[in-house]
Amino acid sequence: MGKIVLVGYMGAGKSHVGALLSEKMNLKFLDLDDLIEKSEGKSIKNIFSEHGEIYFRKVESKIFNTVLASNDDFVLSVGGGTPCYANNHLLLNSENVFSVYLKASVTTLKDRLIKGKTKRPLIADLDEIELEEYIAKHLFDRNYYYHQCTKIISVDAKTPAEIAQEIMTVYSK
Ligand code: S3P
Repeated sequence: MGKIVLVGYMGAGKSHVGALLSEKMNLKFLDLDDLIEKSEGKSIKNIFSEHGEIYFRKVESKIFNTVLASNDDFVLSVGGGTPCYANNHLLLNSENVFSVYLKASVTTLKDRLIKGKTKRPLIADLDEIELEEYIAKHLFDRNYYYHQCTKIISVDAKTPAEIAQEIMTVYSK
């Protein structure tokens, strides 16, 4: 079966699509942010505020590497920054890994994130205009890493069910 890893910017739908896909494929679902919160015993927001981003990135990379080194098959949704630090992107095409970049436009991301920004420390304090600028610049910086994925799927104006179906189609080819 293998390990399916969903990659993309905050708000791209990785967790939602991942949960649906795992159900359809009868695979275990793992969410890297959840695993980090469980391992640290605190929310992502509190990890950032109490220990800072560098500490978070170290924990994130360690757990990402550990999960991918296991013999299990699963669908794993990672955080928006996971592939962009500590050479984590090199694992996106390693043996038994099928990675998918859920690609969304700046406008789609901004519209989604304006509602869900409080639990995301990197964007929690930005207003709508700042948020749009931040996403545009940040996406540009992260583009290289996201494009290391095995497949790229555009997600604008698609439902999670449609995206999950599309992933299953490209996976089986
Ligand atoms: C981050 C994305 C978040 C979380 C953390 C940092 C990022 O995950 O890991 O707040 O750097 O883009 P989601 O993409 O699931 O929101």
